[in-house]
Amino acid sequence: MAKSTTIFVCNGCGHRAPKWLGKCPECEEWNSFAEEAVKSNSPRSRQKNSPSQKRVQPITEIAGGESQRFSTGLEELDKVLGGGLTVGSLVLVGGDPGIGKSTLMLQSMGLAAGKGKKVLYVSGEESPEQIKLRAERLGSLSDTLLVSSEICIEDILDLVDKIKPEILVLDSVQTFFTRELTSAPGAIGQVREVAFRVMQEIKPRGIPTFLIGHVTKEGALAGPKALEHIVDTVLYFEGEKNHAYRILRAVKNRFGPTPEMGVFEMCRDGLRPADNPSEIFLSERPEDAPGSVIVSIAEGSRPLFVEVQALASSSSSIGMPRRMATGIDPNRVSLLIAILEKRQGLHLQGEDIFVNIAGGIRISEPAADLGVAAAIAGSFRNISIDPGIVMMGEIGLAGEVRSILNLDTRLLEAERLGFSQCIIPTLPKNWSQPGEGRLKIKPVKNLGEALEAVFKTVVSDSF
Ligand code: TYD
Ligand code: MG
Repeated sequence: MAKSTTIFVCNGCGHRAPKWLGKCPECEEWNSFAEEAVKSNSPRSRQKNSPSQKRVQPITEIAGGESQRFSTGLEELDKVLGGGLTVGSLVLVGGDPGIGKSTLMLQSMGLAAGKGKKVLYVSGEESPEQIKLRAERLGSLSDTLLVSSEICIEDILDLVDKIKPEILVLDSVQTFFTRELTSAPGAIGQVREVAFRVMQEIKPRGIPTFLIGHVTKEGALAGPKALEHIVDTVLYFEGEKNHAYRILRAVKNRFGPTPEMGVFEMCRDGLRPADNPSEIFLSERPEDAPGSVIVSIAEGSRPLFVEVQALASSSSSIGMPRRMATGIDPNRVSLLIAILEKRQGLHLQGEDIFVNIAGGIRISEPAADLGVAAAIAGSFRNISIDPGIVMMGEIGLAGEVRSILNLDTRLLEAERLGFSQCIIPTLPKNWSQPGEGRLKIKPVKNLGEALEAVFKTVVSDSF
């Protein structure tokens, strides 16, 4: 094999250097150099470009069509993947360390292997003994679940050729390395090269592969974010470690709809799909408490209802009130506070404001705006909102309530769960209410109208 040399490339401006540099001489960025392989004259790479890959052909004459799928064993995971695992797809499963990615994979692969699928689980993090211990607890022992602790990607690919598994799991991308680079496993160059090699080698063989990746503290750089463009599907496993609930989200999927999500409960014997997550999230909701509002999340085929809690209390530090948000973007909360001040005339400047999404869930949808604003106003005014009310709507900078996606599915689910009223954005003329009409609908044009409707008093006369 021709010896390939390596080069260091700046992630910021693309400046190339023969050795690692702390600061880029071109763009002056610190710590931006990553190692890359130079494979210009390798006969192997030329050989790979076979004539069939280079040929141009009409799209209608390309063989194949409807992609083949099979079950991963866990229904909730199948749903998030868009109806099962597609043959030949590369799926990245990202999440914080310790959130349960290995558990999710081992559990579903145990079930798939139990149905006769040949699975190769390669873990660079745990020894086969440790994996067995965990598999015992999860009830995932099966003769067709093969385990290896190999960490060199070239050796893993040789192993794949020898064993010919039907599903491959690589846990985690940060622990593998390629011999073509000299840097340590986990370095950005290694992570990218390993993922790219896996993608190149897996596609022609048609083996569906799960690549696990830890989200690093710095977020994007050496973590799964750097790989999102390479893979077919990106799933994120999220949740608060000290809460039992975990959300699996599809943020990119070449074979199914996004956003899609599944909810699991982490138990002593592994992950259990939550049948009725909204009921669980709402079960601990306080009654008659100012600052508590129900909002809906519709990032998948099934809408989810969660409680937003806000607490506004007069600040002891003049001029520098505290603003904290968990489970929601703090910038979005600051924006809503500014709108409440400017458009509703609420004097929030001297208030410490805390916003929390109960149950350790993260909301990224603007449809929660109305609920968050009402929770803050409710806590500030010390008025509680009827727990039978759900609020949904995006708020614009002028305080107007804007339309949201999937309104009908949210309303149907709200009716099914027994809510009495929904505060929603104004509707198109020919719209008719879905469901059996048990749910009272209150369309509102702006934030002022919404607050009036839930507090039954005029909060401000600025509209
Ligand atoms: P793990 O899958 O190792 O996380 P990751 O691969 O994302 O780093 O999950 C580890 C956590 O999950 C650990 O803190 C304990 C918890 N856990 C359970 O609560 N029940 C179980 O059955 C298992 C296997 C793990
Ligand atoms: Mg793990």
